[in-house]
Parts: sequence; structure tokens; C-alpha cells
Amino acid sequence: EKGGYRHFMIKEIHEQPKGLRDTMTSRLMEEKDQVILDKIKLDKKTLENINRIVIVACGTAYHAGLVGKYVIERFARIPVETEVASEFRYKNPIIDQHSLVIVISQSGETADTLAALRLAKKKGARIMAITNVVGSSVAREADDLLYTWAGPEIAVASTKAYSTQLICMYMIALHIALQLDKITVEFFKKVKDALRKTPQMVEEILDNTHDIQRFADHHFNVQNTFFLGRGLDYYTALEGSLKLKEISYIHSEAYPAGELKHGTIALIEEGTLVVALATQRELYEKLLSNIKEVKARGAHVLAIAQGDKKDIEKVADEVFYIPEAIDEISPITTVIILQLMAYYISVARGCDVDKPRNLAKSVTVE
Ligand code: F6R
Repeated sequence: EKGGYRHFMIKEIHEQPKGLRDTMTSRLMEEKDQVILDKIKLDKKTLENINRIVIVACGTAYHAGLVGKYVIERFARIPVETEVASEFRYKNPIIDQHSLVIVISQSGETADTLAALRLAKKKGARIMAITNVVGSSVAREADDLLYTWAGPEIAVASTKAYSTQLICMYMIALHIALQLDKITVEFFKKVKDALRKTPQMVEEILDNTHDIQRFADHHFNVQNTFFLGRGLDYYTALEGSLKLKEISYIHSEAYPAGELKHGTIALIEEGTLVVALATQRELYEKLLSNIKEVKARGAHVLAIAQGDKKDIEKVADEVFYIPEAIDEISPITTVIILQLMAYYISVARGCDVDKPRNLAKSVTVE
């Protein structure tokens, strides 16, 4: 049942190229200068009536929603908020018939996410769902539905659901931006081509996991980890940090790299592991400074960067590279490295990778 793999998690990590391809198939086509979102009724007229988008989800799906906020705002210039479902549902959120609420849920059964969907619907918002489970509660109750075609996810730690949720966020952002004339066809093509290449780029990473395994075997005993990043890298940092803590039980925090010196840097000491994400070229120099700051306090720094940024090797202790691409899509490749890192560290520590303590795959109670 694990197809020759030792755990479901590593099997599912390796299923990501297929999940990404399947999720894009018939939606992002080479010859089409638009996103084909079949039954989704987000045409120009509907979108012009919407002045606010709220993305609601929990856990890993929430992290996909943060990337969603970033790309929708960047491409379509509509204000977006991303909220944790358990907070959203109890704060009397400001939404009405001019709001679009996007709920993201792998299982489609998470209690808080479902309650948030129902609340938003009652307030008159248009509801769009992104889910992996056909016929799930979230799928049935939404106005518009976009499936992630990741296939069944068994491991408690979400991997292929996340990367396919990311693809959906990009497709929605591009679709809205095109409908509202906020991007040119050239820009659309540039992002589309990059997205269509992500399955190969992920394969490239999956074909070369030796360095990541070696890294895990060296560092599995670390007690404190910080994931730093700016812009899109910060959201990937959050997801990488969650993956590590949930399956390896290592204390880990994610911080926007520029926020570190407002308090958290006090926790950096000799031997603290810092994973510095530096894939955003416009923020690259800033990350170099942040790496120097933590290095000066004794941190061991693993950096992740684009292939064309080799001088990062002068400041970080170790560097992993993602296949070169436009900055906007780097969360899809960067997270794969972080998933593998969490997995191999968990294995090295002898943890129950697929069924981490205290966790359930689907949280159907509050
Ligand atoms: C983490 C993880 C959880 C889920 C969260 C939401 O690896 O799997 O954080 O992402 O419980 O679950 P869904 O997406 O089913 O609503």
C-alpha cells in the first residue's frame, strides 16, 4: 500500500509532481491565454461586485491561504485577508454580499473551516472551496468548487495537499487578475509557463535528496530551530516550521526575517539551527544581512536560494538551491526541500512519522 516506500509521508512527497500536473491539467493549458475554471462563476461582472476577499483555513491549508493572499493582491490588486478558521468564526467578521470567501481544506471536513463557511454564507458572501476530497462537506456547501487532484493523503502531515493548494491559489489569482485586466497577457504567460514547469522542478529536487538526508543525519538532535524569510519566503517558513515540529517534536518558530531583531534574536545562541529562505531576489540582500546577524550570535545557518545566487555560500554554513525560476512561484519548490528535511529528521529521531503524537488527520471536532 505504501508502494515500496517506508512511510506514507515520503510516498506522498514523491507524488507531488503528479499532483501538480493533475491539478493544472485542463485548467492551465499551453495554448490558452486564460485559466479554465470550468464551473466557477467568477466572471468579470461577478468580480466587479466583489470588494474584498477573505481566505479561511486551518494549519497547513492556512499557510497556502497566506500565499494566496500575497499572489491575489500582487496580481489582481484586491484586498485579501487570510484568517485561521477558529478565529474567523468567533469575531463577527466584516463580510457581506460583496465579499468572496475562499475556504481551503484538504479533507473538506475540518469543523472550524466548515463552521466558517456556513457563517460566511449566512452573511451573504460568495463561497469558493478548495478541497481534495470529492463530495466532502465543504465541497457540497460551497458556491464554487476547485478540487486539488492530489489523490488520497494518508500521512497526518500534509504535503501533496499543500503544494496542490498552492497551484490553485496561483490559478485563482491569475484568473481574477485577467478578468479585471490587472495583468498583461505577457505576464500571464510568464507565470503560467513557470507554473507548468513546477512538476519537473519538483522532480529535480526529489531526484537529489542525498544532501538533505545528510543534513538531517547531522542535525536531528538540534533543540531549537528558526525558519526565516521575507515576502513569500516567510509563508514557506511557516509551513516548513510546522512540518518540522509536528513530526519531529523539535521546537521551531518561523519569523519574518526583518522582525527578528525586535525580540526573537535574543533566543539565538551557539548551535541554534536557522533555516534562512532567500529565494526572493528583490529581498536577497536583506536576507544576507539577516544571516550575518544570526551567524554572529553562533547560529548554524542552512540557506535556501535560487541557483543564480551562489555568493550566499560566503555567509551561510550550508546552502540548498531550488531550480531557478521567477520569484513568484518559489514557494512550490522551496517547500519540497523543507518537507524532505522534516521527514528525514523525523526518521533519524525514530518518531512515528505518519502518525505523530497528539494529532489526527482530520479535526472534525472543535
Ligand atoms: C499539518 C496538517 C494540518 C491540516 C489542518 C487542516 O500538516 O495537516 O495542519 O492542514 O488540520 O486540515 P484540512 O486541510 O483537512 O482542513
